[in-house]
Amino acid sequence: MVLEAVNLVKDYGEHRALKGLNLKIDAGEVFCLLGANGAGKTTTIQLFLGFIEPTAGLAKIKGHVVKDSPVETKRALAYIPENVMLYPTLSGLENLRYFTVLAGIAEQGPSVYRQTLMDAGLPEFAVDKPVGTYSKGMRQKVGIAMAIARKAELLLLDEPTSGLDPKASNEFSQLVTRLRDEGVAVLMATHDLFRSREIATRIGIMKQGVLVDQFAAADVSHQDLERIYLEHMRD
Ligand SMILES: Nc1ncnc2c1ncn2[C@@H]1O[C@H](COP(=O)(O)OP(=O)(O)O)[C@@H](O)[C@H]1O
Ligand SMILES: [Mg+2]
Repeated sequence: MVLEAVNLVKDYGEHRALKGLNLKIDAGEVFCLLGANGAGKTTTIQLFLGFIEPTAGLAKIKGHVVKDSPVETKRALAYIPENVMLYPTLSGLENLRYFTVLAGIAEQGPSVYRQTLMDAGLPEFAVDKPVGTYSKGMRQKVGIAMAIARKAELLLLDEPTSGLDPKASNEFSQLVTRLRDEGVAVLMATHDLFRSREIATRIGIMKQGVLVDQFAAADVSHQDLERIYLEHMRD
């Protein structure tokens, strides 16, 4: 099992943001987490990143408890938030080199970085341009390139397609699908019902810190998904 939440609880002061989450994601699975703002999606992802510590329960990656094995668990994962943080004055290639070396990956020749960025869908003309000139979709592709370069076994995605135009969002989904087919496990928080049905193997709906429903993406049509989602949001 690549990712496992065992009775995972997170309190912020008096507020219980996550109320005993149980979740398993295996290699080659994409779990899309849907839910209104404030449902606990980002909290869930941050617990697996080790950015925050659980109040109770366990966040495990490849069998290691995140809190106890921060180095091993971070090595296995790549994280793409809504806005990928890069150095705007450095090129895509320089950012990729900088962040992968920082992550402990041996330095490669420029042609390797160039190829990785192009594998992640970045147009060749952009590779040597400052990232400050990139569109949001292009920055997300640098994020994917980092995941590829680091051979991440787990991708944690927090609303990665928010604010992308449909073409960029489609390209992003294709990249995630390709990584999924190569055996990467993916946890993606999103508001995009359409894309979730396209790329997810499983879809979960979170409401006020509780995973209130989950099902195989193949078992629902887009209309079903929208209806199920809206029914859960009603009260
Ligand atoms: N650092 C924090 N301090 C206090 N409350 C927080 C903090 N982060 C999130 N929360 C609260 O926890 C709940 C879940 O938030 P979050 O995980 O960001 O939800 P989502 O990503 O689904 O929108 C919300 O009620 C939010 O206000
Ligand atoms: Mg969030």
